[in-house]
Amino acid sequence: MRILGIESSCDETAAAVVEDGRRVLSSVVFTQIAMHQPYGGVVPEIASRSHVEKIGGVIREAVRQAFTDAPDDPARFDDAWWDRIDAVAVTYGPGLASSLIVGLAAAKGLALRLGKPLIGINHIEAHLHAVFLSPDAPDPRSVGHCLGLAVSGGHSSWIDMPEVGRYRIIGQTLDDAAGEAFDKAAKLLGLGYPGGPVIDRVAKQAARRDAVAFPQGRPKPGSPALGGLRADLCVSFSGLKTALMYHLRNHPPQSDAERAEIAAAYQEAIVGALADRTARALRLNRYQAMAVGGGVSLNGRLRERLREVTDAAGVPLLLALPKYCGDNAAMIAGLAGMGVGVTGPAAMALDVAPSLEAGDSVCG
Ligand code: KG4
Ligand code: ZN
Repeated sequence: MRILGIESSCDETAAAVVEDGRRVLSSVVFTQIAMHQPYGGVVPEIASRSHVEKIGGVIREAVRQAFTDAPDDPARFDDAWWDRIDAVAVTYGPGLASSLIVGLAAAKGLALRLGKPLIGINHIEAHLHAVFLSPDAPDPRSVGHCLGLAVSGGHSSWIDMPEVGRYRIIGQTLDDAAGEAFDKAAKLLGLGYPGGPVIDRVAKQAARRDAVAFPQGRPKPGSPALGGLRADLCVSFSGLKTALMYHLRNHPPQSDAERAEIAAAYQEAIVGALADRTARALRLNRYQAMAVGGGVSLNGRLRERLREVTDAAGVPLLLALPKYCGDNAAMIAGLAGMGVGVTGPAAMALDVAPSLEAGDSVCG
């Protein structure tokens, strides 16, 4: 089963071909980061327009790269090549509506034109499947009961995964996502966009990680914002950026070294909160593995701390290859190849679902 995956939920236009859910034949990602950099964040109108411009070429390139004997000249790229694809999978949520709609429309059009099935995929669930795209990862069908942690620019959630295709949120951020907390801090520190990679890099140069005491972001038990989730499995990151703002106002850094120490302390607060809730979640069940996905899972310090807590719990830690941590379409095609996703007439009737959560099947 060879599936063409299409992803356009935020600021990356991506397409990939994956065989049997795990073997990546091609993965093409066009990132718009440079276009949004002057604005310090993703501008939805710019993102959407760029998806429209790029998506056709990115899809064609993914199919061409998937087959080493394919012609370089797109004009010679006829129906016979497209026919090697068995189905088209696409992200339908969560994400920016005006970005999602471009990928979904392209995928529907292509599936109709080729007469192949369409599969609608949840972007967060796909981030967790990304760990299984490593050749040395266990088979997702036999890995057993997993704890998932999805940490990206838009989401931070702990997800119970009893088996492939079953997802239930057991903890999450009540406000800002971890990636958002990094991005906002980098802006306040004048370090540029996106914030995660630059804070990760700058923090490595800091002499100490405890120069500033940032809040731990522990929600109060019983708070209505928890929506019934356990307080000790949830986090709140919004107070962190306010604390940083006040700190910078009262103690403006006098050197790059001081700025690095502030960045390191801030990163430590985010990573510490993620590691602490993870340690708690690992005590709830006899998990057989932990899968971590999303752009923030690239963070060096987070990887270090998660390694500590999973080692202490005796649970194998599964991390995605760096190229599959951020947004990509291999994770979309891969998850579809596991038999997960919306199929049949429901897929063709799908609308974009900007607020989709892990475990939701279809929501409009
Ligand atoms: O998964 P992703 O590519 O897109 C979303 O689905 O949101 O995640 C993007 C986020 C951004 O907020 C970015 O700052 C963050 O991932 N990020 C990092 C690192 N690399 C990317 N955060 C912390 N450390 C990093 N090394
Ligand atoms: Zn993502």
